[in-house]
Parts: sequence; structure tokens; C-alpha cells
Amino acid sequence: PAPTPSDPWRPLAHLTAEKNWLNDPNGLVYHDGTYHAFYQYNPQGNSWGNMSWGHSTSKDLVHWEQQPVAMEASPDEEIFSGCIVMDKNNASGLGSAETPPMVALYTSAYGKNGALPQGSQAQSVAFSLDNGTTWQKYQGNPVLNLAPTNNNFRDPKITWYEPGRYWVMTTVVADAQVVKLFKSTDLLRWEYLSDFSGVGAQGGLWEVPELLHMDVEDSTAKKWVMLLSINPGGIAGGSGMQYFVGEFDGRRFTAENAAAPGAPLTESQWLDHGADYYAANSISGAPGDKPVLLGWMGNWDYAQDVPTTPWRGSMAIPRELTLVRGAKRLELRSAIAGAARETLDRSGEVKSKNLTVGSSPQDLGQEFRGRTQLIELDMDLKSAREAGVLLRHSSSASETGLRISYNKETGSVRVDRSQAGTSNFSGKFSPFHEVALPSSGSKVHLTILLDSSSVEVFAAGGTAVISDTFFPDWDNTGSSAFSMEGDTDFTVTTRGL
Ligand code: FRU
Repeated sequence: PAPTPSDPWRPLAHLTAEKNWLNDPNGLVYHDGTYHAFYQYNPQGNSWGNMSWGHSTSKDLVHWEQQPVAMEASPDEEIFSGCIVMDKNNASGLGSAETPPMVALYTSAYGKNGALPQGSQAQSVAFSLDNGTTWQKYQGNPVLNLAPTNNNFRDPKITWYEPGRYWVMTTVVADAQVVKLFKSTDLLRWEYLSDFSGVGAQGGLWEVPELLHMDVEDSTAKKWVMLLSINPGGIAGGSGMQYFVGEFDGRRFTAENAAAPGAPLTESQWLDHGADYYAANSISGAPGDKPVLLGWMGNWDYAQDVPTTPWRGSMAIPRELTLVRGAKRLELRSAIAGAARETLDRSGEVKSKNLTVGSSPQDLGQEFRGRTQLIELDMDLKSAREAGVLLRHSSSASETGLRISYNKETGSVRVDRSQAGTSNFSGKFSPFHEVALPSSGSKVHLTILLDSSSVEVFAAGGTAVISDTFFPDWDNTGSSAFSMEGDTDFTVTTRGL
């Protein structure tokens, strides 16, 4: 669906459900030319509950088609987050050589008459023999539990470990801030490997972990990266995603990427500095040699209060990750995933503008009025201290709008959504978010994906990202460029979608 005055915040270039609540992406898999996204979904309503797996498919990671609910909650069992892999050799025996199964590992959150006591969580298996359309639960569920206490044990994600020729599963005991690793060769019997804990941000639930094996750019080295969501305790308040770079020896993951030699590993690196990027995990089997992540564009601080209807919750634009050598240590760089970027690059016409802006803001004109735009912004802050763009502003009061700026003195990028529309639905809807770029200077380049009710700003080549939701008035479609305390040269291009 497209945005309309009665559904003004519906994104065009991001995955949403036609109606009802969604949160974490689950079971992301590329198979036979199609991307499948399953996700935490409430078939019955517009807030969290009855957790089931919704399902949408895409050919290009921008346009999504909703499919029937894949696995539905029952009073005995809700279906929490998990993952899917293609079991190509039918190691699980759940399919056949001719029809290898798609295998899902998910968290069973037990209700009244569940296999385990009410309130406990354990890992279960389901499989599909028709490319993800229908799912059967495995008879022997759960396949992994932590008896006698299965509290907050969830979010299995698995990675193939080639040297040992086995699958490695990461899970969390969320409220103990522990990642637990297990291994298996058949996806059904899981053997404990190790715990990962004691580093990074601790002030909230640890959720949705994932271990990625990545090339270090411009070198022959490879490293392991642990992605880990935390809520609350994220860098922008509430939910956020930290990551650790290190080694994995087949049993144990060791973070080793301190900011300086000998420095403690307590300081997290953050995948995003905005308020709305959470629970991202990679698409199993995606083409290309880089992990492609899909994240939820939400924050548990206020996600259940946002004013959209009949849907609530959207996914972020899929990103592809590169591990690069930063000034101090290895860092993840995010870019809009290749397939999505190609689609965006093919849509609409590029319009560009060169202008020098002084003390009065300048309107960017008709071409920059789209609700969904991919903007490339180059600024040279000649004598200015701060400069940027104001998007989705009204024609009368130009102070309103989403303010994206760069400050030359602090070397930081800021997204300010405090005047960008409706925000009174929650006292926890934080007003602005900021990220310091690794090197300051007068020039800056930002890639900005604006889409109805969200913005994703990629800075410093993608090592600094801010993803935020906001809820602007339907009629506010103006865009302008501003410069504070001096002049700024702008080159700005846009593509309307
Ligand atoms: C993360 C999370 C997961 C859990 C799911 C429940 O947002 O809390 O830990 O599996 O959502 O919907």
C-alpha cells in the first residue's frame, strides 16, 4: 500500500504489514531468487501479543509482498524470534534428498498447556517443504532447553562453521546478559559450547545475538563479529544494537577489539546511533560475499504507542556490512544493500542542485518534496559552524521539520525529530540523536533515505548511521538547506520514489 491522508505514515520502500503489529525480523533466508522475511507478528491486533511469524517476500529488498501467516500462536505456545536455514543435504531428515527442507529454529514461549511450564522459553524446530509457505512443527520439540530454569532463554540464530563442519547457534539468557553457544550437525541435537558475557553494555536485556564471519576489507584477514541487541541501554536510549569484533575457535567467541591496546572491552561499538534500529540479523544464503542485515525500525521505549494504524512497525532498509580498519580499531560499515540500492537507483529521476547558503535558509524546490526520497548531500561548511537540511517542513513555519545537521566544531551529525511532527504519544520519544564522525573537517557527505515516517542517515562512509522514525503532518513536504554562522556550499541530489 502507498501512503494516503488516512494512512499518512505508510512507508513505500520499507517492509510493513498491511495491518497489525510487527517487531523483530526472523528467519531471513534467500532461496530460489526470492528473499523471505518472517517476523514477529500479531495476527489479531495492533500491539504486541499472540506472537506469530508473519511472512513477506521480495525480489529486490524494496518491494515486499505479504504472504499468509507462517506459524500462528496458540494458547500453549507463542512463536518468538529465530532463524531459518536451507538444510541442503537434508541432514535433519525432515525432508528428502529431492526436497531438502527449510528448517526454522525458533523460541517457544510457553502458555497454559505447553511442553514446559508456563512462562518458560526453549528452542524448537519447524520445517517447510514448500519454500516457506506452510510450516510443520517437529515432533521432538523443544530441541534445546536449560532445565530446570528456562527463563528468558531465546532468540536462536545459526551460522555454518566450515572448519568444524557444524552449525553454531547463538542464543541469549536475556536477563542474565549471557550469550550461549551450541553446536549441531543435524539441526536437531544441540551440544553446549560456551558462554559469552561480561563485556559491552550490560544495562538491559541482551537479545537477538548473531555470529558473523567476515573478511577484513583490503586484507586477507577474517574476523568474527558478534551482533547483539540490548534493551534498554542502547546508545540513543531504550533499544539499540552493539557489536563485538573478535575470534571464534569453534567453541568460544572472544571479543578482542578494545579501543586502545590494553583498554577494557566494556565500551560497546554501535551499529546505529539512532533510536530505531533493533534486532537486526542477516539473510541466510543472500547473494554476494557480505552479510545483508534486516533490522526492525522500532524502539521498545515507545514502539507500542506510535500513532500508525492499521499497522504498527516497519523494517529498516536492508544493509550490507563491511568490516573496515578504522582509526583505532576494526569497525562495521553499513551501506544500503546492493539489491535495494539498484532498485532505488532505477526509480525516479535524479534531480540535483548546487547552492551556497548563508544566513537565510533556501528552499530546495519542487523536486525535493517527495515523501520518499533518496538524497545524497555534500556540504562544505566554508565559514559556517553548522549546516544541514530541514525535511518535511510546512510552508508557513519553516522551523518545523526533521532537522539533519553537521557541526564542524564537534564533528558530529545530528538528527533532530523534536519538531518533525506528532510526538506526544510517548514521553520516551527522544528528541534528537547524534554521532561523532571519526574525522572532523569542513566537508561532509550524507546519504539520506527518507520514507514517509522514517529516515536513515549514513555518514562517514557508513561507519556512522542514524535510523529514526518520526510522524510528520501529511501536508508538510517542504525541504530546505540551512547554514549557521557563515556560508555553506551544497551539492544535493534526490531521487523521488
Ligand atoms: C526482541 C524480542 C526477542 C523476542 C521477541 C518477542 O525484540 O524481545 O528477544 O524473541 O522480541 O517478540
